[in-house]
Amino acid sequence: MFDLDAFDHHRDVVHVHRPEVGLSAVIAIHDMTLGPALGGCRMWHYPNAMAATVDALRLSRGMTFKNALAGLPFGGGKSVIMGDPKRHKTRALLEALADAVDALEGRYVIAQDLGVTEADTRIFRGRTQHVGGVGVGGVGGDPSPKTAQGVFRGLEAAVRVTLGRSSVEGLRVGVQGLGAVGWKLAEHLHEAGAKLVVADLDVERAEQAAAGFDAQVLPVDAILEADVDVLAPCALGGVLNTGSIPRLRARIIAGGANNQLATAADGDALAARGIVYVPDYVLNAGGVIAVAYEYLGDRDEQAVWGQVDRIGRTVGDILQRARHDGTTPVRAADALAIRRLGHHSAPRTAA
Ligand code: NAI
Repeated sequence: MFDLDAFDHHRDVVHVHRPEVGLSAVIAIHDMTLGPALGGCRMWHYPNAMAATVDALRLSRGMTFKNALAGLPFGGGKSVIMGDPKRHKTRALLEALADAVDALEGRYVIAQDLGVTEADTRIFRGRTQHVGGVGVGGVGGDPSPKTAQGVFRGLEAAVRVTLGRSSVEGLRVGVQGLGAVGWKLAEHLHEAGAKLVVADLDVERAEQAAAGFDAQVLPVDAILEADVDVLAPCALGGVLNTGSIPRLRARIIAGGANNQLATAADGDALAARGIVYVPDYVLNAGGVIAVAYEYLGDRDEQAVWGQVDRIGRTVGDILQRARHDGTTPVRAADALAIRRLGHHSAPRTAA
Protein backbone atom coordinates (compact mmCIF):
# COMPACT_ATOMS: atom_id res chain seq x y z
CA MET A 1 0.00 0.00 0.00
CA PHE A 2 2.84 2.40 0.81
CA ASP A 3 3.92 2.21 -2.83
CA LEU A 4 0.53 3.10 -4.31
CA ASP A 5 0.19 6.43 -6.13
CA ALA A 6 -2.87 7.12 -4.01
CA PHE A 7 -0.86 6.78 -0.79
CA ASP A 8 0.03 10.24 0.49
CA HIS A 9 1.49 9.84 3.97
CA HIS A 10 -1.82 8.57 5.31
CA ARG A 11 -1.70 8.31 9.04
CA ASP A 12 -3.76 5.17 9.62
CA VAL A 13 -5.47 2.77 7.24
CA VAL A 14 -7.66 0.15 8.91
CA HIS A 15 -8.97 -2.87 7.08
CA VAL A 16 -12.12 -4.14 8.74
CA HIS A 17 -13.00 -7.73 7.96
CA ARG A 18 -16.02 -9.33 9.67
CA PRO A 19 -17.05 -12.27 7.46
CA GLU A 20 -19.76 -13.30 9.93
CA VAL A 21 -21.78 -10.22 8.87
CA GLY A 22 -20.40 -9.93 5.31
CA LEU A 23 -18.37 -6.80 6.06
CA SER A 24 -15.17 -5.87 4.26
CA ALA A 25 -14.36 -2.20 4.70
CA VAL A 26 -11.48 0.23 4.76
CA ILE A 27 -11.22 3.22 7.09
CA ALA A 28 -8.55 5.67 5.94
CA ILE A 29 -7.33 8.52 8.12
CA HIS A 30 -5.23 10.83 6.00
CA ASP A 31 -4.38 13.69 8.31
CA MET A 32 -5.27 14.91 11.80
CA THR A 33 -3.32 18.17 11.94
CA LEU A 34 -6.48 20.25 12.33
CA GLY A 35 -8.53 17.75 14.35
CA PRO A 36 -10.22 14.35 14.17
CA ALA A 37 -10.53 12.92 10.66
CA LEU A 38 -14.03 13.64 9.31
CA GLY A 39 -15.47 12.13 6.15
CA GLY A 40 -18.41 10.07 4.96
CA CYS A 41 -18.80 6.37 4.39
CA ARG A 42 -19.27 5.12 0.84
CA MET A 43 -20.77 1.74 -0.04
CA TRP A 44 -19.97 0.55 -3.54
CA HIS A 45 -19.53 -2.73 -5.38
CA TYR A 46 -15.77 -2.38 -5.88
CA PRO A 47 -14.24 -4.97 -8.22
CA ASN A 48 -11.61 -5.92 -5.63
CA ALA A 49 -10.08 -4.95 -2.30
CA MET A 50 -7.32 -2.90 -3.93
CA ALA A 51 -9.88 -0.70 -5.73
CA ALA A 52 -11.64 -0.10 -2.41
CA THR A 53 -8.35 0.75 -0.68
CA VAL A 54 -7.35 3.18 -3.44
CA ASP A 55 -10.75 4.88 -3.26
CA ALA A 56 -10.48 5.24 0.53
CA LEU A 57 -6.96 6.68 0.20
CA ARG A 58 -7.99 9.21 -2.47
CA LEU A 59 -11.24 10.24 -0.82
CA SER A 60 -9.70 10.69 2.64
CA ARG A 61 -6.92 12.86 1.22
CA GLY A 62 -9.58 14.95 -0.52
CA MET A 63 -11.37 15.41 2.80
CA THR A 64 -8.19 16.79 4.40
CA PHE A 65 -8.08 19.51 1.75
CA LYS A 66 -11.84 20.13 1.79
CA ASN A 67 -12.02 20.46 5.57
CA ALA A 68 -8.92 22.67 5.76
CA LEU A 69 -10.23 25.10 3.14
CA ALA A 70 -13.68 25.14 4.74
CA GLY A 71 -12.01 26.38 7.94
CA LEU A 72 -13.16 23.34 9.95
CA PRO A 73 -11.32 21.94 12.98
CA PHE A 74 -11.17 18.51 11.34
CA GLY A 75 -8.68 16.42 9.49
CA GLY A 76 -9.46 14.16 6.55
CA GLY A 77 -10.81 10.63 6.66
CA LYS A 78 -13.16 8.37 4.77
CA SER A 79 -14.50 4.86 4.96
CA VAL A 80 -15.62 2.53 2.20
CA ILE A 81 -17.65 -0.64 2.43
CA MET A 82 -17.27 -3.24 -0.30
CA GLY A 83 -20.69 -4.32 -1.55
CA ASP A 84 -23.86 -3.36 -3.34
CA PRO A 85 -25.87 -1.09 -1.04
CA LYS A 86 -29.13 -2.42 -2.52
CA ARG A 87 -28.28 -6.08 -1.92
CA HIS A 88 -25.63 -6.37 0.78
CA LYS A 89 -26.46 -3.68 3.29
CA THR A 90 -27.76 -5.05 6.60
CA ARG A 91 -28.10 -3.62 10.08
CA ALA A 92 -25.50 -6.10 11.37
CA LEU A 93 -23.00 -5.00 8.72
CA LEU A 94 -23.48 -1.30 9.53
CA GLU A 95 -23.22 -1.99 13.26
CA ALA A 96 -19.99 -3.92 12.80
CA LEU A 97 -18.49 -0.98 10.93
CA ALA A 98 -19.71 1.42 13.62
CA ASP A 99 -17.98 -0.78 16.25
CA ALA A 100 -14.73 -0.47 14.28
CA VAL A 101 -15.19 3.32 14.15
CA ASP A 102 -15.84 3.36 17.89
CA ALA A 103 -12.62 1.44 18.53
CA LEU A 104 -10.76 4.38 16.96
CA GLU A 105 -11.96 6.46 19.94
CA GLY A 106 -12.90 9.59 18.00
CA ARG A 107 -9.92 9.76 15.68
CA TYR A 108 -12.34 9.16 12.77
CA VAL A 109 -15.84 10.65 12.55
CA ILE A 110 -18.14 8.85 10.12
CA ALA A 111 -21.01 10.39 8.11
CA GLN A 112 -22.95 9.54 4.95
CA ASP A 113 -21.78 9.38 1.36
CA LEU A 114 -22.82 7.46 -1.75
CA GLY A 115 -24.79 4.33 -0.88
CA VAL A 116 -25.19 5.30 2.78
CA THR A 117 -28.27 7.16 3.97
CA GLU A 118 -29.22 9.34 6.90
CA ALA A 119 -31.15 6.35 8.32
CA ASP A 120 -27.91 4.31 8.16
CA THR A 121 -26.07 6.99 10.14
CA ARG A 122 -28.67 6.58 12.86
CA ILE A 123 -27.72 2.87 13.01
CA PHE A 124 -24.07 3.95 13.37
CA ARG A 125 -25.15 6.28 16.16
CA GLY A 126 -26.61 3.32 18.07
CA ARG A 127 -23.07 1.96 18.44
CA THR A 128 -20.78 5.00 18.48
CA GLN A 129 -20.88 8.70 19.25
CA HIS A 130 -18.42 9.45 16.48
CA VAL A 131 -21.01 10.10 13.75
CA GLY A 132 -22.05 13.31 11.97
CA GLY A 133 -25.01 14.11 9.73
CA VAL A 134 -27.54 12.18 11.78
CA GLY A 135 -30.06 15.00 11.87
CA VAL A 136 -31.25 15.15 15.47
CA GLY A 137 -33.70 17.62 17.01
CA GLY A 138 -34.31 19.43 13.73
CA VAL A 139 -30.62 20.35 13.45
CA GLY A 140 -28.40 18.97 10.72
CA GLY A 141 -29.74 16.19 8.54
CA ASP A 142 -29.93 16.65 4.75
CA PRO A 143 -26.93 18.86 3.96
CA SER A 144 -27.86 19.61 0.33
CA PRO A 145 -29.42 23.09 0.89
CA LYS A 146 -26.15 24.20 2.49
CA THR A 147 -24.12 22.57 -0.25
CA ALA A 148 -26.14 24.50 -2.85
CA GLN A 149 -25.78 27.77 -0.94
CA GLY A 150 -21.99 27.34 -0.81
CA VAL A 151 -21.84 26.59 -4.53
CA PHE A 152 -23.90 29.69 -5.24
CA ARG A 153 -21.66 31.94 -3.10
CA GLY A 154 -18.55 30.52 -4.76
CA LEU A 155 -20.05 30.89 -8.23
CA GLU A 156 -20.87 34.55 -7.49
CA ALA A 157 -17.28 35.13 -6.34
CA ALA A 158 -15.91 33.51 -9.51
CA VAL A 159 -18.11 35.81 -11.60
CA ARG A 160 -16.82 38.84 -9.68
CA VAL A 161 -13.16 37.94 -10.05
CA THR A 162 -13.28 36.57 -13.60
CA LEU A 163 -15.88 38.69 -15.33
CA GLY A 164 -15.69 41.79 -13.12
CA ARG A 165 -19.45 41.72 -12.56
CA SER A 166 -21.07 42.33 -9.21
CA SER A 167 -23.77 39.69 -9.65
CA VAL A 168 -24.99 36.88 -11.88
CA GLU A 169 -27.92 38.99 -13.10
CA GLY A 170 -28.32 38.63 -16.85
CA LEU A 171 -25.64 35.93 -17.16
CA ARG A 172 -26.40 32.63 -18.85
CA VAL A 173 -25.74 29.75 -16.45
CA GLY A 174 -25.96 26.07 -17.37
CA VAL A 175 -26.90 23.57 -14.66
CA GLN A 176 -26.23 19.89 -15.35
CA GLY A 177 -28.36 17.80 -12.99
CA LEU A 178 -31.35 19.11 -11.05
CA GLY A 179 -31.16 16.86 -8.00
CA ALA A 180 -30.97 17.96 -4.38
CA VAL A 181 -28.05 20.32 -5.03
CA GLY A 182 -28.67 21.37 -8.65
CA TRP A 183 -32.33 22.27 -8.09
CA LYS A 184 -31.61 24.46 -5.10
CA LEU A 185 -28.71 26.10 -6.93
CA ALA A 186 -31.01 26.81 -9.89
CA GLU A 187 -33.46 28.42 -7.46
CA HIS A 188 -30.74 30.75 -6.11
CA LEU A 189 -29.56 31.62 -9.60
CA HIS A 190 -33.08 32.33 -10.82
CA GLU A 191 -33.77 34.59 -7.83
CA ALA A 192 -30.55 36.47 -8.58
CA GLY A 193 -31.62 37.11 -12.17
CA ALA A 194 -29.50 34.60 -14.09
CA LYS A 195 -30.83 33.06 -17.31
CA LEU A 196 -30.86 29.31 -16.80
CA VAL A 197 -30.07 26.54 -19.25
CA VAL A 198 -30.67 23.12 -17.70
CA ALA A 199 -30.55 19.38 -18.38
CA ASP A 200 -31.47 16.32 -16.36
CA LEU A 201 -31.83 12.65 -17.22
CA ASP A 202 -35.20 12.96 -15.53
CA VAL A 203 -37.15 14.85 -18.20
CA GLU A 204 -39.95 15.75 -15.82
CA ARG A 205 -37.48 17.45 -13.50
CA ALA A 206 -36.10 19.51 -16.39
CA GLU A 207 -39.61 20.51 -17.43
CA GLN A 208 -40.38 21.61 -13.88
CA ALA A 209 -37.32 23.86 -14.04
CA ALA A 210 -38.52 25.27 -17.35
CA ALA A 211 -41.84 26.17 -15.75
CA GLY A 212 -40.49 27.35 -12.37
CA PHE A 213 -37.34 29.18 -13.42
CA ASP A 214 -38.11 30.08 -17.00
CA ALA A 215 -35.18 27.84 -17.92
CA GLN A 216 -34.20 26.65 -21.37
CA VAL A 217 -34.04 22.84 -21.39
CA LEU A 218 -31.31 21.06 -23.36
CA PRO A 219 -30.81 17.36 -24.02
CA VAL A 220 -28.37 15.81 -21.52
CA ASP A 221 -25.69 15.31 -24.16
CA ALA A 222 -25.76 19.03 -25.10
CA ILE A 223 -25.53 20.80 -21.74
CA LEU A 224 -21.73 20.65 -21.41
CA GLU A 225 -21.23 22.49 -24.69
CA ALA A 226 -24.06 24.98 -24.14
CA ASP A 227 -23.43 28.61 -25.01
CA VAL A 228 -23.31 29.88 -21.43
CA ASP A 229 -21.13 32.16 -19.31
CA VAL A 230 -20.98 29.74 -16.40
CA LEU A 231 -21.44 25.98 -16.31
CA ALA A 232 -22.40 24.26 -13.04
CA PRO A 233 -21.97 20.46 -13.15
CA CYS A 234 -24.23 19.08 -10.41
CA ALA A 235 -24.64 15.46 -11.46
CA LEU A 236 -21.78 12.99 -11.85
CA GLY A 237 -18.01 13.13 -11.51
CA GLY A 238 -15.50 12.90 -14.34
CA VAL A 239 -17.47 15.19 -16.71
CA LEU A 240 -14.45 17.40 -17.44
CA ASN A 241 -12.24 15.20 -19.57
CA THR A 242 -10.31 15.08 -22.84
CA GLY A 243 -13.58 14.53 -24.71
CA SER A 244 -15.60 17.37 -23.20
CA ILE A 245 -12.98 20.08 -22.54
CA PRO A 246 -12.38 21.06 -26.20
CA ARG A 247 -16.16 21.51 -26.67
CA LEU A 248 -16.88 23.68 -23.60
CA ARG A 249 -18.04 27.23 -24.27
CA ALA A 250 -18.39 28.52 -20.70
CA ARG A 251 -15.84 30.98 -19.28
CA ILE A 252 -16.28 29.61 -15.76
CA ILE A 253 -16.99 26.12 -14.42
CA ALA A 254 -18.45 26.20 -10.90
CA GLY A 255 -20.67 23.35 -9.78
CA GLY A 256 -21.37 21.03 -6.87
CA ALA A 257 -20.59 17.59 -8.31
CA ASN A 258 -17.70 15.73 -6.67
CA ASN A 259 -14.57 14.91 -8.68
CA GLN A 260 -15.52 16.81 -11.84
CA LEU A 261 -12.02 16.53 -13.32
CA ALA A 262 -11.40 13.08 -14.82
CA THR A 263 -7.66 13.50 -14.13
CA ALA A 264 -5.46 16.19 -12.57
CA ALA A 265 -4.16 17.02 -16.07
CA ASP A 266 -7.66 18.12 -17.05
CA GLY A 267 -7.32 21.07 -14.66
CA ASP A 268 -4.34 22.24 -16.72
CA ALA A 269 -6.22 21.61 -19.98
CA LEU A 270 -9.05 23.88 -18.81
CA ALA A 271 -6.61 26.62 -17.85
CA ALA A 272 -4.90 26.30 -21.24
CA ARG A 273 -8.26 27.01 -22.85
CA GLY A 274 -8.71 30.10 -20.65
CA ILE A 275 -11.57 28.51 -18.72
CA VAL A 276 -11.66 29.24 -15.00
CA TYR A 277 -12.42 26.03 -13.14
CA VAL A 278 -13.35 26.49 -9.49
CA PRO A 279 -12.23 23.35 -7.60
CA ASP A 280 -15.29 21.29 -6.68
CA TYR A 281 -14.02 20.44 -3.22
CA VAL A 282 -13.91 24.12 -2.31
CA LEU A 283 -17.39 24.87 -3.68
CA ASN A 284 -19.28 21.88 -2.33
CA ALA A 285 -18.02 22.04 1.27
CA GLY A 286 -21.38 23.33 2.58
CA GLY A 287 -22.49 19.78 3.31
CA VAL A 288 -19.48 18.86 5.42
CA ILE A 289 -19.67 22.22 7.22
CA ALA A 290 -23.21 21.31 8.29
CA VAL A 291 -22.12 17.83 9.38
CA ALA A 292 -19.16 19.25 11.34
CA TYR A 293 -21.28 21.73 13.27
CA GLU A 294 -23.82 19.07 14.08
CA TYR A 295 -21.10 16.74 15.35
CA LEU A 296 -19.62 19.47 17.52
CA GLY A 297 -23.08 20.02 19.05
CA ASP A 298 -23.24 23.59 17.78
CA ARG A 299 -26.90 24.30 17.10
CA ASP A 300 -26.37 27.88 16.00
CA GLU A 301 -27.82 27.61 12.49
CA GLN A 302 -26.85 31.19 11.73
CA ALA A 303 -23.20 30.41 12.44
CA VAL A 304 -23.39 27.42 10.08
CA TRP A 305 -24.85 29.50 7.26
CA GLY A 306 -22.20 32.15 7.96
CA GLN A 307 -19.44 29.60 7.52
CA VAL A 308 -21.09 28.31 4.34
CA ASP A 309 -21.21 31.86 2.96
CA ARG A 310 -17.48 32.20 3.61
CA ILE A 311 -16.94 29.74 0.76
CA GLY A 312 -17.43 32.80 -1.46
CA ARG A 313 -14.47 34.56 0.13
CA THR A 314 -12.30 31.46 -0.09
CA VAL A 315 -13.08 31.09 -3.81
CA GLY A 316 -12.25 34.78 -4.36
CA ASP A 317 -8.89 34.31 -2.56
CA ILE A 318 -8.02 31.20 -4.53
CA LEU A 319 -8.80 32.76 -7.91
CA GLN A 320 -6.83 35.92 -7.06
CA ARG A 321 -3.85 33.86 -5.92
CA ALA A 322 -3.99 31.68 -9.01
CA ARG A 323 -3.98 34.77 -11.21
CA HIS A 324 -1.19 36.40 -9.20
CA ASP A 325 1.01 33.28 -9.18
CA GLY A 326 0.27 32.33 -12.79
CA THR A 327 -1.08 28.95 -11.76
CA THR A 328 -4.39 27.08 -11.97
CA PRO A 329 -7.13 27.43 -9.33
CA VAL A 330 -6.72 23.73 -8.49
CA ARG A 331 -3.04 24.17 -7.70
CA ALA A 332 -3.70 27.43 -5.83
CA ALA A 333 -6.39 25.72 -3.73
CA ASP A 334 -4.15 22.77 -2.91
CA ALA A 335 -1.32 25.13 -1.97
CA LEU A 336 -3.61 27.17 0.29
CA ALA A 337 -4.84 24.01 2.02
CA ILE A 338 -1.28 22.79 2.54
CA ARG A 339 -0.38 26.18 4.02
CA ARG A 340 -3.33 25.96 6.42
CA LEU A 341 -2.16 22.52 7.48
CA GLY A 342 1.23 23.98 8.33
CA HIS A 343 4.41 22.07 8.15
CA HIS A 344 4.15 20.01 11.32
CA SER A 345 3.45 16.78 9.53
CA ALA A 346 4.84 14.89 6.58
CA PRO A 347 5.38 16.81 3.34
CA ARG A 348 2.58 16.63 0.83
CA THR A 349 2.40 17.32 -2.82
CA ALA A 350 -0.27 19.32 -4.57
CA ALA A 351 -2.36 17.24 -7.01
P1 NAI B 1 -29.02 13.76 -6.66
O1 NAI B 1 -28.95 12.30 -6.88
O2 NAI B 1 -30.09 14.34 -5.79
O3 NAI B 1 -29.12 14.51 -8.07
C1 NAI B 1 -28.40 14.17 -9.21
C2 NAI B 1 -29.25 14.60 -10.40
O4 NAI B 1 -28.45 14.52 -11.57
C3 NAI B 1 -30.47 13.73 -10.63
O5 NAI B 1 -31.61 14.55 -10.82
C4 NAI B 1 -30.11 12.94 -11.89
O6 NAI B 1 -31.24 12.61 -12.69
C5 NAI B 1 -29.22 13.92 -12.61
N1 NAI B 1 -28.29 13.34 -13.57
C6 NAI B 1 -27.56 12.19 -13.48
N2 NAI B 1 -26.81 12.01 -14.58
C7 NAI B 1 -27.04 13.07 -15.38
C8 NAI B 1 -26.55 13.47 -16.66
N3 NAI B 1 -25.66 12.74 -17.31
N4 NAI B 1 -27.01 14.62 -17.19
C9 NAI B 1 -27.91 15.37 -16.53
N5 NAI B 1 -28.42 15.03 -15.32
C10 NAI B 1 -27.98 13.90 -14.75
O7 NAI B 1 -27.56 14.18 -6.11
P2 NAI B 1 -27.15 15.48 -5.30
O8 NAI B 1 -27.20 15.21 -3.84
O9 NAI B 1 -27.84 16.66 -5.87
O10 NAI B 1 -25.59 15.56 -5.66
C11 NAI B 1 -25.14 16.02 -6.91
C12 NAI B 1 -23.63 16.05 -6.94
O11 NAI B 1 -23.14 16.86 -5.88
C13 NAI B 1 -22.99 14.67 -6.74
O12 NAI B 1 -21.81 14.61 -7.51
C14 NAI B 1 -22.63 14.68 -5.26
O13 NAI B 1 -21.54 13.81 -4.98
C15 NAI B 1 -22.24 16.13 -5.06
N6 NAI B 1 -22.33 16.56 -3.67
C16 NAI B 1 -23.55 16.55 -3.03
C17 NAI B 1 -23.63 16.98 -1.72
C18 NAI B 1 -24.94 17.04 -1.02
O14 NAI B 1 -25.03 17.73 0.03
N7 NAI B 1 -26.00 16.41 -1.53
C19 NAI B 1 -22.43 17.43 -0.96
C20 NAI B 1 -21.22 17.47 -1.76
C21 NAI B 1 -21.20 17.04 -3.05
